Amino acid sequence: MEDQGLSCGSLDNVEVIVLDFGGQYAHLIARRLRELGVLALHVPVDKLRPEDLDMVISGAKGVVLSGGPSSVWEKKHDRIVSILIRRKTNLLGICYGHQLLAHVLGGRVDKSPKPEFGPTRIRIVEKNQLLEDIPSIINVWMSHNDAVVEPPKGAKVFAVSEGSPVAAMKYEYNGVFLYGVQWHPEVVHSEFGMKLFENWIKSINATRSWTPNIIYKCVLDYTMKQVSLIDNDKKIVAAISGGIDSSVAAAIVSKIASDRLIGVLIDHGLHPEGELENALRAYKKLGLVIDLVDASEEFLNALRGVNDAEEKRRIISELYFKILKEKIYDYNAGALVQGTIYPDLIESGFVPGSARIKSHHNVISRELLGDLLIVEPLKWLYKDEVRRLGEMLGLDMKLVYKKPVPGPGLAVRVEGEVTREKLEIVRKADYIVRGIIEKYGLDRDLWQYFAVLTRSMATGVKGDNRAYGYVIAVRIVESKDAMTARPARLPWEVLEEIALEITSRIDRVVRVVYDITSKPPATIEWE
Ligand code: XMP
Repeated sequence: MEDQGLSCGSLDNVEVIVLDFGGQYAHLIARRLRELGVLALHVPVDKLRPEDLDMVISGAKGVVLSGGPSSVWEKKHDRIVSILIRRKTNLLGICYGHQLLAHVLGGRVDKSPKPEFGPTRIRIVEKNQLLEDIPSIINVWMSHNDAVVEPPKGAKVFAVSEGSPVAAMKYEYNGVFLYGVQWHPEVVHSEFGMKLFENWIKSINATRSWTPNIIYKCVLDYTMKQVSLIDNDKKIVAAISGGIDSSVAAAIVSKIASDRLIGVLIDHGLHPEGELENALRAYKKLGLVIDLVDASEEFLNALRGVNDAEEKRRIISELYFKILKEKIYDYNAGALVQGTIYPDLIESGFVPGSARIKSHHNVISRELLGDLLIVEPLKWLYKDEVRRLGEMLGLDMKLVYKKPVPGPGLAVRVEGEVTREKLEIVRKADYIVRGIIEKYGLDRDLWQYFAVLTRSMATGVKGDNRAYGYVIAVRIVESKDAMTARPARLPWEVLEEIALEITSRIDRVVRVVYDITSKPPATIEWE
């Protein structure tokens, strides 16, 4: 059964549409606009038929054209942009979107004289509304091989960089402004990115009414509609993992149908120390009925001999859904509640055109569950919005602000084959890392902090003897959205304390290393 379309706003009250051309950072644009209180929806272009364009953007005050892997020479998106221009839509093109806009308006796009990747200095050569209160030299985040090398006739160039002779431009057309910027203001590393968006939403008169109360109401309304589709005598199963997303999704449904809701928590034996217990306590406080399924042996058996990371994810995911399916069947449930959030969909390659990076296990394949109604109250929300909802629903604060743990849990924090011994080691090391970081109150400013059991073995000295044992990597990162991240510059003493504690409390570990790689090029998790 299909759900009832978009939650949290029908297309009538959306202020900005972000047309996603398959860029990795595209959904961040919508997120930034929402942070500014503007309801922005993200629409993957590959799913949009040109004839539907008018309907999709009818109520919006402006459209953002995102970055993407295509090149304007492919002429894949000219038609969409021409339609938008003809219907006098306020536009903001970013990266590929900027090039596309320039190309359709008659400018020239070519290989950049100096392709720019990462931090780049730009010079603002002319002030205008989009760049109000932004200094004339700023550092921004770029990622492009092509560039607009000649602006369209009549366009004003107002920023340049070494590799982008037209780093920003403005074109006036029948009373609307068509802006384009080569850099990515949505990425936190771009200075004054939020200011640029703020200036833009002011220029298009977008309403800033996307508040926590409205989000709450939208999600509740949507969930009510979904629940009304379920037969009254049927149970509703919520797949919960102990994390924030699935817990908030279940808590929302319990507001509407608590007497029929059962939270199924499958213990795959891969949870960090204490996590399951904390989650169970929080659910008890909320009054959620929980069916705790101990399947840890089954998971461990299924993972025996498996080295490949994606294979591990696939096995965990398949076994998880097999058990979940059995539970749904046992309860004769009429629906399944899932805590899918928007970035899960995007990172799982659900958006055509955006590269598949990792298969996140909490994104359900509909084929696995046939015709069952899947209720995903949060699938259009970003993490910070889910956290706010969690607070409003009275979830335990520890759960609301818990650091993310990947669906496959510690299995992707043991490099290669997962064994009972390795799991025990990584669980202990992880517990030590967490304990020390939290003891010094450093957790608030960090996105994630955890231990990884690497494939490496190394020599050490334990007591008076030579020892040969495991190497633990400590990963501690700062990030705003997990799309980019950098290693935390922690006091040396804290890192040394972590190394000392791990090596002295875990026999088989002889060495601890600190991962100093940013994302990109690394990912946050090691697998
Ligand atoms: P990466 O490693 O891709 O991680 O930089 C970005 C964020 O996603 C989390 N992550 C996952 N979450 N299932 C999940 O539910 C997964 O398979 C998975 N892999 C990574 C990761 O912890 C980080 O917060």
